[in-house]
Amino acid sequence: MFDFFKKKSKEPAELCFATDIHCHIVPGVDDGSPDAATSADLIERMQGWGIRRIIASPHVTQYTFENTLDTIRPALDRLHQELDRRNNDIDVSHSAEYRIDELFGERLAANDLWLLPNKHILIENAFMQEPWNLDQLVFDLQVRGIKPILAHPERYSYYYKHFDRYKALHDSGLSFQINLLSLAGAYGKAEKKIAEQLIDGGLVDFIGTDLHKASHADAIDAYLTTSDARKHMDRLRSCVCNDTAFV
Ligand SMILES: [Fe+2]
Repeated sequence: MFDFFKKKSKEPAELCFATDIHCHIVPGVDDGSPDAATSADLIERMQGWGIRRIIASPHVTQYTFENTLDTIRPALDRLHQELDRRNNDIDVSHSAEYRIDELFGERLAANDLWLLPNKHILIENAFMQEPWNLDQLVFDLQVRGIKPILAHPERYSYYYKHFDRYKALHDSGLSFQINLLSLAGAYGKAEKKIAEQLIDGGLVDFIGTDLHKASHADAIDAYLTTSDARKHMDRLRSCVCNDTAFV
């Protein structure tokens, strides 16, 4: 009889993408999921949001995560075995999230890069300062026919007072991928605000979860019930290329 007084539960917002190109669910190779069971749990939560294809992006970072096929392949095999055991046939492959550092320069020179389909590549800046050679690197990639995507531009605070730099980088052919977690406010108010400004400025090409762990999934679950999420997803649906760029 008291149902009348119960607050109506909100339907979660639908994600504006089904292909995630940025998450850390290859087990035990970076600061993301530590083991195959945890990875499969995270993937099941992603599927609950409507993710149907995952191109995982293990870190490749000098000194901390110098991943090679010798580390990635067996880890991905363990994950596929766990997914098979659960009768889960989601499409999971891998590329990488390349930190722009000396190791990246070496791998680029050796033509030893794990590209996303259609010759895209996911790169990230250092968090303290912009890489000194970013413009040259974007050019060098483009000369090789590789299309660079900058991971989470909204997380680099050194751009906040130089919004024009975002525009200049984007105009040079560097695509931008914002994080769902930034829109959720999981890193802070500034990251959320800048992500929204990038959307308003027409500078967002891709979105990713950047999922590392269960607490990230909790934050996304909570976010998807908000009116903010509905607004963001409606805005982004027409501009992100997650489901068209990698076919
Ligand atoms: Fe990441």
